[in-house]
Formats: sequence, structure tokens, C-alpha cells
Amino acid sequence: MHRSPWCSTMQRFRNNPFVLFVMIRALFILTLWIIGIDCIPKSQDDSKVVGGYYIRDISIVPWIVSIRKFFEGEGFAHDCGGSLLTLEIVLTACHCLQGGVRDFEFVAGSVDLENKKAGQVRSAKRIIVHPECVDLDEEGTFDVGVAIMKKSFQKTKFVKTMNILSWNPKEFESKMRPLLKSRTSNCFVAGWGVVRNGGNSASRYLKGVRMYPITGEQCRNIYGKKRKRFRYFDFDKVHQQCGVSRYLNESDCIGDSGGPFTCKGYTVAVVSYGFECGTPTPSVYVTLPYFLEWYQKKLKSKYHGTSSVRRTSQAARVGPFKNLCLSGVLFLTELVSHRTSSFIVTFLSFVLVASQWLS
Ligand SMILES: *[C@@H]1O[C@H](CO)[C@@H](O)[C@H](O)[C@H]1NC(C)=O
Repeated sequence: MHRSPWCSTMQRFRNNPFVLFVMIRALFILTLWIIGIDCIPKSQDDSKVVGGYYIRDISIVPWIVSIRKFFEGEGFAHDCGGSLLTLEIVLTACHCLQGGVRDFEFVAGSVDLENKKAGQVRSAKRIIVHPECVDLDEEGTFDVGVAIMKKSFQKTKFVKTMNILSWNPKEFESKMRPLLKSRTSNCFVAGWGVVRNGGNSASRYLKGVRMYPITGEQCRNIYGKKRKRFRYFDFDKVHQQCGVSRYLNESDCIGDSGGPFTCKGYTVAVVSYGFECGTPTPSVYVTLPYFLEWYQKKLKSKYHGTSSVRRTSQAARVGPFKNLCLSGVLFLTELVSHRTSSFIVTFLSFVLVASQWLS
């Protein structure tokens, strides 16, 4: 009689209670994993963030950081936004990091600037701005920098690293391009910036605004009419992406600088500058492939060190489907392997699932 491979495997199970035990355990783990996936709030879902609305649940942008600067007589006050590139590295705009390490405080995990207890507060041990940003020119090129925390942030439901399309600048660029197709509505900016053009105090609660990417040429046409020096400015060449709001009456503003520009759950750029918030003048963002070139060359080997950091970034890269395949492969390996390796494999899959569960 013909015996399919599945039947012969079942035969092995009946004769080997240990393998059966392992199998049940693996099934249990797999179930946990599937439930885990369903329980994890979809941080990619930015549907609640429509133009100019309050973001009440920070798990929509758990990588956002409020950068507070020390002002004489005032103490620390919100100055800029940032994003958690890793749990130790805050990515922001260069112009947000003018000062020494002691001038800044970094707060993650709270939408409310005044609730000091709700967030995690850190200070920096190093501030590193793009080398060419030393003299930030009027067009705001090279406007990126990082702050390395003394102590890393703790990963929670409300504090997570940003989703990155790729750590490789070229790959990032090619994955980013479709997300920035002109006039797609899946990008937004979040921040505590001022809520009125001409206003001067930060918003107490985190806000978000949907921004629609426009091409560098469209951007130049608009900016060129306002400022002579932009008439021949090549936004694409200096890795700047422009965006406008739906009705051209909303935008990011002062205090939102350095914060994340996020498309489909992936942070692809840093808020850099704009003129006149809430007008048809576009906002300008620095795209990350440009930052990553510098990061890979100069910073990664030095500051991208801890194991927790690696795990986080890998989890972000491996899609759920790939993980499912991996679990399947592990499971099959268990079916055919002998006792010792079964145990190791089960253990490994448990670790895999546990990391998935915790993320
Ligand atoms: C922007 O314009 C739209 C459509 O006219 C309007 O519904 C919305 O309230 C405006 N937003 C602001 C902030 O003025």
C-alpha cells in the first residue's frame, strides 16, 4: 500500500512519546504566536491621524521622542521632535541639536508633555550632527543628527523603535520611492509643535497631520515664487522631500522639527523646515537614505552595538509571513530530527516566539 510521508511521520509519533510531546509543545507555541500577532496593536494603522487631529494613543507612533532643551530661567522645555532609531539612538534634525549634551532631555512614551511621570526620560552621552551641518545653510541641507543616550530606553507598548524600510541606503531608497508617489495619502507627521501659524508655545498633547508628498519640481515651483534662492533649487538632489496637506491649510510647524515623517508605518524622513505653517507652502523633510549613508559609514559600528538593538531591528525587518515560514521549517525539522536536536529546536522556536510575543 502506498504510504504518504505524512503517514510515516505519524507512525514515528506513535512509537515515540517524546516526539509527540515536542510536537504538542510546538503546536502550543505556534498557537501562542498566532494569538500574539492578533493581540499586538497595529502600530502601522495611522487611520486615526488625519489632518491636525490629536493622537491620543502613542502606540500609533511609539518611536516618537520629545526633545527638551534647557532654557535659562525656564528649565527644560519641548523644543523638537525625534525618533527612536534604536533604543539608544534618537534621530532628529541637526538644527535641533545645537548645544551640549547637558542642554537636552529626551522623553518617550507619553503624548502629554506635562505629565512627567508617564514617559521615560533620558539624557544624552553624545550628540553627533552631520559633519556638513556645522554651518547649516539657508536651504537647510544636511539637517540630520543623532543623540546617543546614556542609558537605553526600555521597550514597552508605548516605546518602540521606528520601523525602518532597510538599513541599506540603496534598498531603502528603492522601497521608499513607491511610498512617496505624489499625492498618496498614507504619510503623516506627528509632533508637539505650535498649533497656530505665528504661535510660540508647544502643543501640550501630541498631534498628527496627514501630509501628501509632492515632487521636487512642484516644490521648487512653489518655493521659487516666494524666495529667489529656491528658483533653481534641486530638492531631490539634497534628499529633501516636500509635502502638503490635503486642503493646503494644515501642516507641521515650529516645534515639530526633527520628528518622524511616517508612511505606511515606516519612518522615511525627518521634519526639517518650512515657511508659514498651515499655508499652501510645502513642508520639507530630509529622507533617510541620505542619513543612512553617513550612519553606515561613521556611526553604525560604534553605536549600533547592543544585542537588544539588533533583535529589535531584525524583528522589524522579518515580516510576519517570513516568521510563519520559519516556524514551519522549525516545526518540520522537529518532526524528522532526533531527541536532543528536537529539544534545541523547540527551545529556539520558543525564543523566536517569545521575542515576537514581546514585540
Ligand atoms: C482646512 O480646510 C478644510 C476644507 O475647507 C476644512 O474642513 C478644515 O477645517 C480646514 N482646517 C483648518 C485647520 O483650518
